[in-house]
Amino acid sequence: MSENNIQGQKEERNWENLLRPGGFDEYIGQDLVKRSLGIILEAANKRKESIDHILFYGQAGLGKTTLAHIVAKETGGNLKITSGPAIEKTGDLAAILTNLEKGDILFIDEIHRLNRMIEEILYPAMENRSLNIVLGKGPSARTLSIELPPFSLIAATTRIDMLSGPLRSRFGGTFRLDYYSLSDIAEIIKRSAKILNVNIDSDAIKTIAEVSRFTPRTANRILKRARDLVQVKNEDTINKNCLKELFEVLEIDNLGLEYQDRRILSILKDQFGGGPAGIGAISSSLGEEKSVIESVYEPYLIKIGLIKRTPSGRALTDKGLEYAEKCSKNKK
Ligand SMILES: Nc1ncnc2c1ncn2[C@@H]1O[C@H](COP(=O)(O)OP(=O)(O)OP(=O)(O)O)[C@@H](O)[C@H]1O
Ligand SMILES: [Mg+2]
Repeated sequence: MSENNIQGQKEERNWENLLRPGGFDEYIGQDLVKRSLGIILEAANKRKESIDHILFYGQAGLGKTTLAHIVAKETGGNLKITSGPAIEKTGDLAAILTNLEKGDILFIDEIHRLNRMIEEILYPAMENRSLNIVLGKGPSARTLSIELPPFSLIAATTRIDMLSGPLRSRFGGTFRLDYYSLSDIAEIIKRSAKILNVNIDSDAIKTIAEVSRFTPRTANRILKRARDLVQVKNEDTINKNCLKELFEVLEIDNLGLEYQDRRILSILKDQFGGGPAGIGAISSSLGEEKSVIESVYEPYLIKIGLIKRTPSGRALTDKGLEYAEKCSKNKK
């Protein structure tokens, strides 16, 4: 990876942290989830116990990591952060678990990427706080059981369908984060604009909300790009004109679709006669990993009714076909 790229990723993470709500009061929307979490936290606090293990799932950028941080902060426990792909061997997880202290919160992001052998170490740790380690091999193998301190696991995933039943069932609370309403996204944009110290008029807030894919991260990303543009143009407020120019440059259309989204539609239309087409075939035509298509592009295209999942693959809906035809006409 080039140095520029690393720098770019660091900056991306910095502003994401800057805009990340630090408490429930700043966390906009998802009211039912917040209320349920409030009850879990208060009950555990009254009993002086660790909170139940919690799982958050939902599409990318909807606020799972943010909620995990908020819950950990509310418990007052130390937050230890890791992720599915970072835990490669059973020993990695054993080391993490044996280093936990009473009241700690262990956050495992992208938990669907844990392999099954490692998952099995988690079961007894979640259920009765014991870590079972097998010593030796074959007939002389022995199992050593270590008692772990009271801790809580918070996990997040964009792919709940990839979690095994036994793992899912060991969470005391499972919460789905849904796409946000336009009014919640508008609130998020207002809040972020204040933090980023940029003026934005109410029309522009509405326009960004409409192309945000109902997703806070996308709304924040567009807002940031708009802030750059007004800075370059020496203007002082983000307005509709500035957004018009921005959307042209970023190739964002009225539905919030970007270049790759439109390519998925046109691949389905032109190469697969509208589908159904298998995800593998779409992935190789698009030159994008299957998992990215499944977790980033496809959910929104399904949500707005342009494509559908069928038993034999993905297919354009009538609306999707119409839209794909309109896009290819515009290109000509
Ligand atoms: N409810 C919210 N209110 C205000 N801002 C939010 C909210 N949810 C998310 N955000 C903003 O969106 C950004 C993305 O949120 P977060 O990183 O928590 O998403 P995620 O669900 O963990 O995504 P991923 O699946 O990609 O890890 C955060 O930096 C935060 O600024
Ligand atoms: Mg996250």
